[in-house]
Amino acid sequence: MATTEKELTLDDLSRLFETQISAIQDLPALENLRVEWIGKKGHIPLQMRNLGKVAEAERKILGQKINEVKTKVESELDRKHKTLFAQSLNEQLEKERVDVTLPGVPLAKTCEHPVWKVQAELVKIFSNCGFVVEMGPEVEHEFFNFDALNMPKNHPARAMQDTFYIAGEKELVLRTHTSPVQIRTMLLQPPPIRMICPGRVYRSDYDPTHSPMFHQIEGLLVDQDVVMGDLKGLLDHMVKEFFGASLGVRLRPSFFPFTEPSAEVDMACVFCSGKGCKTCKQTGWIEIGGCGMVDPEVFKSVDLNPEKWSGFAFGMGLERMTMLKYGVSDLRSFFESDQRFLREFS
Ligand code: DAH
Repeated sequence: MATTEKELTLDDLSRLFETQISAIQDLPALENLRVEWIGKKGHIPLQMRNLGKVAEAERKILGQKINEVKTKVESELDRKHKTLFAQSLNEQLEKERVDVTLPGVPLAKTCEHPVWKVQAELVKIFSNCGFVVEMGPEVEHEFFNFDALNMPKNHPARAMQDTFYIAGEKELVLRTHTSPVQIRTMLLQPPPIRMICPGRVYRSDYDPTHSPMFHQIEGLLVDQDVVMGDLKGLLDHMVKEFFGASLGVRLRPSFFPFTEPSAEVDMACVFCSGKGCKTCKQTGWIEIGGCGMVDPEVFKSVDLNPEKWSGFAFGMGLERMTMLKYGVSDLRSFFESDQRFLREFS
């Protein structure tokens, strides 16, 4: 470029620019032309640099001429840019034209999530028995999730639940059950207490019957002279109301650190009414939760006198109750947001 440039007069350059710019059809090509002419290594700056080599007498005249060409080039580039920009904007507007007369897209009809539906049904059943709903945090202190529930550090019972610990926070966990709400409630209000606590809980588990997040509902009753028969009576009532059928409940001896005695809650199989089928493995019974009489150690941890107060507690998984009521076989379908599945419950 440099050698031919020397031979080109400023008039030649000016004419060259005119031919080039008149051939430009779009903005990217115009940008290339801009760089070619007024970019750092373009024709005009090159002319400016060469000015130093010209004899002093001619320099002023030549300098003025270069400036004239430069101004012309700049204003032509600018004008062409305006024209091409307006043109491309119009093309875009034309292409993306919105037909405002088209009818709107209707919003998909949604429905309540089956687990929430079941939660509401159970809350209603227990509310009718005088239980009030209490809530607690999902990121919980180990004191409420374990210690106060008679699961001190290094107690093997802590290993029963695959706990998610909060990174960098030594004593915080994602609550593994709703039981810490029992502790919070007993610390905040004096007995008599009748409370239920529905909510999300977390464990490191994933298969057709377990998911890392699931829902529980727990109940706690604290009063004087509470007996296990009261607990059994309430659970019987709950099953009858929830499943709309008089399916029996049995308490099977078990162990939980926070209740003594403790029991697993079984109900007569919803699918065969207790006769024995594949789902209940021919036993006629299906496990739905855990329960027991509040352990004296738990009362002590919330400063209640176990000689004076007695109580019962129970806990169930809401997904499990939903699966049993609606015959869902894979728990994971609750969390996949598949509209076809969810609509089945509307
Ligand atoms: N917290 C227990 C669990 O998540 C369930 C449970 C059992 C809750 C017995 C209770 C109870 O309140 O009394 O496995």
